[in-house]
Amino acid sequence: TSAEAQTASRIGFTPIAAQTDSTIHVPEGYSWQPVAKWGEKLFSDAGELSQQTGISVDSSDRVFGENTDGMEAFVVDGRQVIAVNHEYVNTRANLPQSGGEVTSADAVTTLQNMQGVTVMEVAEGPDGWNIVVDSDLNRRITQNTPMTLTGPAAGHPLLQTSADPAGTTVLGTMNNCGAGKTPWGTYLTCEENFNGYFGSTDENFERPEGYARYGIGLEGRYAYEKFDARFDISKNPNEPHRCGYIVEIDPSDPTSTPIKHTALGRFKHENAAAVLAPDGRVVVYMGDDERGEFLYKYVSHGVYTPGGPTSALLDDGQLYVAKFDTDQTGEWVALTPEATGMEAAEIAIFTRTAASAVGATTMDRPEWVAVNPIAVEAYCALTNNSRRGPEFTNAGGDPASAVPNSPNPRDANNYGQIVRWWPAEDDHASTNFTWDLYVMAGNPTVHDDLNKGSANVNAGNLFNSPDGMMFDSTGLLWIQTDGDDSNEDGFAGMGNNQMLAGNPVTGQIERFLTGPKGSEVTGLTWSADKRTMFVGIQHPAAPFPDGEGMLPRSSIIAVKRDDNQPVG
Ligand code: FEO
Ligand code: CA
Ligand code: CA
Ligand code: CA
Repeated sequence: TSAEAQTASRIGFTPIAAQTDSTIHVPEGYSWQPVAKWGEKLFSDAGELSQQTGISVDSSDRVFGENTDGMEAFVVDGRQVIAVNHEYVNTRANLPQSGGEVTSADAVTTLQNMQGVTVMEVAEGPDGWNIVVDSDLNRRITQNTPMTLTGPAAGHPLLQTSADPAGTTVLGTMNNCGAGKTPWGTYLTCEENFNGYFGSTDENFERPEGYARYGIGLEGRYAYEKFDARFDISKNPNEPHRCGYIVEIDPSDPTSTPIKHTALGRFKHENAAAVLAPDGRVVVYMGDDERGEFLYKYVSHGVYTPGGPTSALLDDGQLYVAKFDTDQTGEWVALTPEATGMEAAEIAIFTRTAASAVGATTMDRPEWVAVNPIAVEAYCALTNNSRRGPEFTNAGGDPASAVPNSPNPRDANNYGQIVRWWPAEDDHASTNFTWDLYVMAGNPTVHDDLNKGSANVNAGNLFNSPDGMMFDSTGLLWIQTDGDDSNEDGFAGMGNNQMLAGNPVTGQIERFLTGPKGSEVTGLTWSADKRTMFVGIQHPAAPFPDGEGMLPRSSIIAVKRDDNQPVG
């Protein structure tokens, strides 16, 4: 039989119907259970979660944080470790005593601690998967954890502050969205909407050049600026230049200092899909999730050799941005001083401006990139772009983003699409590629035009706003959604956010899992034996998962086959 027939047989589950309720659904023959929930103890000295007061400030960096997102699994000395992001906080859940109002420095510290990253050992026992409480590998990385800045922007005057005159040590990591894993077994966590943490106590503060393109305003979403001067741009105008990067964390060493790699550029990083080129250079694909921003890749100058030195591989390399042509070819344009008219450090700090200078293709919010492990191809979820056009609101954005283009063909794009590319010479380091749209989401039960979606969208697999994506080891593409779950009008028949499996060869897409109402499904990794799939459920509405009257809890769940066969 052909390769096509073999891959077509890989979707081995019975697809499920769309759902609108407050729990998880998986196919017949599969089961799920929670592994880690917001506020669960990583260390036995942490206090209990209270429905009235949440988690105390003293315990807030000793428990599993909120709003789980990207994650990766590692094996450390035979033990299974998950590193997972906590993207943002729901203030009503974390500060129930004040109805979500941020009224004190302790409230700010609590919120800062409930975000960042958890590194935790997990183990499977008779009652399923659980956190190994008090494991010496458990660690919380918060918005106050010291990190080292490296790469072309490290030490630049724009990265210097009164607390860090050298511009090389920054506290914490902000809005950690998607993730990635290096070939040498470290975790990559990606800073996305970092702009929202900053504000000004001086309403007349004149914002420096370079703030507008990143949306840095005068009022922070959590009022940090009122209680923590580091987030007050009128006092520390360079602090926002120290966020918006990719951070590397060693999950095997809880005493290690995380590294912010400025060579990978500063933007609203979604995830980091790392792969080796045939010659051993490290290639990292990265999306910038904002309307009209770009798709990037980084290629190291050095090569990776197992057991060899890795410290320069994410600091010394070339950043590229994607240009898609109308004839389904494309090129990666190098962001060099010659091409951009900017110095190397400026390219690392104001990467969006550098990419506009070379005429990169504006995209419909690039979310996760996933690289197929069994074919030389990569996929990027372009989640949606409902505000294209003259009313485009991203101040200082690229004017080209006002009109559709080949990989982003719809004027108002409420559904999203997935673009994929094949690098020339089967080499991810190559500067040329060909591309197509793997799927254009839509609703053929409602629309007759481009909004009906591509031919592989049908009444049985309706979805919108693809976001998280991971390939499993067999080459199936898992697609997670973060979209409109109203189940009405143009979204009728789509139900709650969900996870689907896609066959890259045939284009077949089938629904595997539905999340609880209000949640997005984001983050996916597997146990070492591939018999468990770990899936993230972010911002569920009550009563998930603890029942009526209880605070809603973002959670990681484990999905297994009832016959314990591999699930990816
Ligand atoms: Fe945090 Fe673009 O999703
Ligand atoms: Ca996302
Ligand atoms: Ca999203
Ligand atoms: Ca999210």
